[in-house]
Amino acid sequence: MSTVPQASRLQGVRYDIRGPVLRRARELEAAGHQILKLNLGNPAPFGLNAPDSVVNGMLANIGSAHGYSDARGVRPARVAVAEHYLARGLAVDPDDVFLGNGVSELIVMALQALLNPGDEVLIPSPDYPLWTGAVNLCGGRAVHYRCDEAAGWAPDLDHLAAQVTARTRAMVIINPNNPTGAVYSRQTVLGMLDVARRHGLLVLADEIYDQIIYEDAVHHTTAALAPDLLVLTLCGLSKTYRAAGFRSGWLVVSGPRADAAEYLEGLELLANMRLCPNVPAQFAIEAALAGDVTIAPLLAPGGRLREQRDHTWRRMNEIPGVDCVKPAGALYVFPRLDPEVHKIRDDQQFVIDLLEQQHLLLSHGTGFNLPSTDHFRLVFLAPVAVLDDAVSRLAAFLGAYRQ
Ligand SMILES: Cc1ncc(COP(=O)(O)O)c(C=O)c1O
Repeated sequence: MSTVPQASRLQGVRYDIRGPVLRRARELEAAGHQILKLNLGNPAPFGLNAPDSVVNGMLANIGSAHGYSDARGVRPARVAVAEHYLARGLAVDPDDVFLGNGVSELIVMALQALLNPGDEVLIPSPDYPLWTGAVNLCGGRAVHYRCDEAAGWAPDLDHLAAQVTARTRAMVIINPNNPTGAVYSRQTVLGMLDVARRHGLLVLADEIYDQIIYEDAVHHTTAALAPDLLVLTLCGLSKTYRAAGFRSGWLVVSGPRADAAEYLEGLELLANMRLCPNVPAQFAIEAALAGDVTIAPLLAPGGRLREQRDHTWRRMNEIPGVDCVKPAGALYVFPRLDPEVHKIRDDQQFVIDLLEQQHLLLSHGTGFNLPSTDHFRLVFLAPVAVLDDAVSRLAAFLGAYRQ
């Protein structure tokens, strides 16, 4: 028996995209195999680095970054975030902005300040699994609402409304979505907000991919559509600004504060307890949000991310028994394996077998809290030739694989 037991609050906490499958990949690498890793939405290893001006924003201020900052973050960065949202139709005060060590830290803080044991949070299925893990960590209960693959993975509003109980405290909206790549229509966002309004729910809007959208997709800033609701909007530098390693993100509080004074006091307490976020990386925020920094060329026709998305999606659909909704945003495809063709009972075993036979690392669908075992996620950050090789390996594997 272990003499240093694990805290029981970790019982229901899972983060499979860095779990047993990644451990097996490390073992194979240690044994000398080269693994093609398309499992993490981390732009830099694929040569997608932060723009120079963003890096310079941090370097130029390093001399002012030796001490702790204000617990919410340095004021110029919070002013830049407030101005960024003003341009999106959302007026917020710089004091309503909390900076964090990535959105990840702010997700945990927002839930820690909110949840009592047994409180429920509505989370999409599939989800970015940190949300479900963090709700469980904070003693809450993650209740998943269905997203409909046949409708381009839009949330099923009837199912969402049917999940609300007397214990429901908050609704998580991940838009654009990881892992599905869905970008929600205005009508869908309004429908979700209507459920939140009818039941007095706090809205947690994870919009980290808000500027990574393709073709004619439009991202609607949730909080701008609901000035009458308390909304926490989360975003940061990891994806659009390709600076995931800086660990720099923000949380913006909008809507009526009066009924939430205690909650916001709790959020401030937690911000104070972590002293402050990494200070050098806070200085990259002002530079990133300056008008001339844009990811648009990578997303336009001929742009690298656009080509990679198009190629991956097209080739994926050419594999017999694989169907893939075209992602309208973000960095992922989330294909379905037709159960008539590929009978997968254990999708984690499926990705481990793929890893061992083809040295290709993907993520299994149940790791994103999808109830069925017929999906997987592939990150399309790699150059087209590498993605092409990956899809060929997958096709060869599927041609012979039986579980
Ligand atoms: C939907 C979503 N939210 C949050 C995060 C974490 O972001 P950060 O790097 O800011 O912690 C990710 C990372 O992949 C994500 O996909």
